[in-house]
Amino acid sequence: SVYGNQQEASLAVAGRIAKLIRDKQAKGEQAVLGLATGVTPIRVYAELVRLHKEEGLSFKDVITFNLDEYYPMKPDAAQSYVTFMYENLFSHVDIDKAHVHIPDGTLDKEDVVAFCLDYEKQIEELGGLDLQILGIGRTGHIGFNEPGSAPNSGTRLVTLDDLTRSDAARDFGGKANVPTKAITMGIGTIFKAREIILMAWSAKKAPIVKKAVEGEISGEVPATYLQLSDHVEFVLDEAAASEL
Ligand code: GLP
Repeated sequence: SVYGNQQEASLAVAGRIAKLIRDKQAKGEQAVLGLATGVTPIRVYAELVRLHKEEGLSFKDVITFNLDEYYPMKPDAAQSYVTFMYENLFSHVDIDKAHVHIPDGTLDKEDVVAFCLDYEKQIEELGGLDLQILGIGRTGHIGFNEPGSAPNSGTRLVTLDDLTRSDAARDFGGKANVPTKAITMGIGTIFKAREIILMAWSAKKAPIVKKAVEGEISGEVPATYLQLSDHVEFVLDEAAASEL
């Protein structure tokens, strides 16, 4: 769906997340959410915080798995996705810290594979992700699944694309400081979610949105794999949808 602006679109996505949480609570079940970082979901999280503070939305029994984290990365670093998630959402709601999962950027190299397999296993044991929200990078990455990612890929250590590192340079005070690697859920991990929402705002994203939605399905633009799923929705503002 296309909304007039990103604020309207963000409210709609937050409303769907809130409904999912409440529907699960009504059944005595836990919502399992796949969350994303970046500028794109910030207003969604802000609205969820408002719904918590003003409308009693509780995150007590909500379980979350984040898509990705830079590697290496200390959780308390300003640029970590741990810091991002606490600043934008977790610190402002009543979520149980034990229910929060974010890939660990502090692991020793030899422990990464076991960690990634366990990440997949934990999601599976909870019955899978009810909803995964996604942004999209200018390389067509979802999570940090860069060009060349396989459609059945799982959570793993990846090398970041040069363009992705350029786009992150501002956050790190220069590209040289941007980590060269990340741990990310795979395309296969994302696909298993029962519902997927990809959000994109602004004209800057219009060319990659066009490729993702209308382009040939290929590992060169990992987001094109989403065309193969029947439970994906693109939520766009008019500027991001302007080339469709
Ligand atoms: C980052 C994240 C992605 C995100 C993308 C777009 O690198 N790893 O999960 O979707 O880039 O970021 P933004 O929303 O800031 O444009």
